[in-house]
Amino acid sequence: MQQQTDAVKADALRMKEAAGRAAVDALVRSGMKLGLGTGSTAVHAIRRVGELMSRGILKDISAFATSFQAEIECENGGIPFYPLNSREMSAGLDLTIDGADEVDPQNYLIKGGGGALLIEKLAAYASASYAITVDESKLVAHLGMGFPVPVEVVPEARVQAGKALEKLGAAVALREALRKAGPVITEHGNIILDIRFASPPDPAALETDLNRIPGVVENGYFTRIRPVVYIARSNGTIEVRN
Ligand code: A5P
Repeated sequence: MQQQTDAVKADALRMKEAAGRAAVDALVRSGMKLGLGTGSTAVHAIRRVGELMSRGILKDISAFATSFQAEIECENGGIPFYPLNSREMSAGLDLTIDGADEVDPQNYLIKGGGGALLIEKLAAYASASYAITVDESKLVAHLGMGFPVPVEVVPEARVQAGKALEKLGAAVALREALRKAGPVITEHGNIILDIRFASPPDPAALETDLNRIPGVVENGYFTRIRPVVYIARSNGTIEVRN
């Protein structure tokens, strides 16, 4: 049983790595300003960029890191990174590469499983092109039926925003930290309310409507930029879906 679980984990890791590397190899060119994503798949894209830089294949890359995790990976890989407001980045990003929690047939996404949705969305919407790297387990017919939609909320709005979300028909759960008592606190000092609907909602409408609730900072629907999606299949192939 344990051996089976280990094999499944190894397969998942292999697929995440294959997706990340494939997107970098196909899309990243010297001189690009990159948005670099967060999570266990995006990390492989960051490592591949660092590897190609160290071999002199990629030159003059500058990056915007979407989280502490991405910053540390950039540091480890020797990838120079800058704030989005900096002179280096203020003209916008050429390409952002990230992971996702769910991808639907229109390439709409749920993101934020790692709690970095706010800055991931900033990077995505500041980019000329956007690539998502996933293993095939992330493909769904309808968003939000398996993975909840994260909503980042200022702590003061926990109860009121929660009630407003319930009025929209959502079941609401405060995201709890794993190795700390109490809620997850995001890198911007906010909390996350994970919401679920009983039947599939309209993600494009909800992306706008959720942000109208006072205290909501951002939500995990990504529908206003259509990514190219690199899907690692269990048979070892990579499917590219536009
Ligand atoms: C981070 O906040 C997320 O948006 C991640 O991109 C998403 O959760 C996918 O993460 P994994 O690649 O680790 O599944």
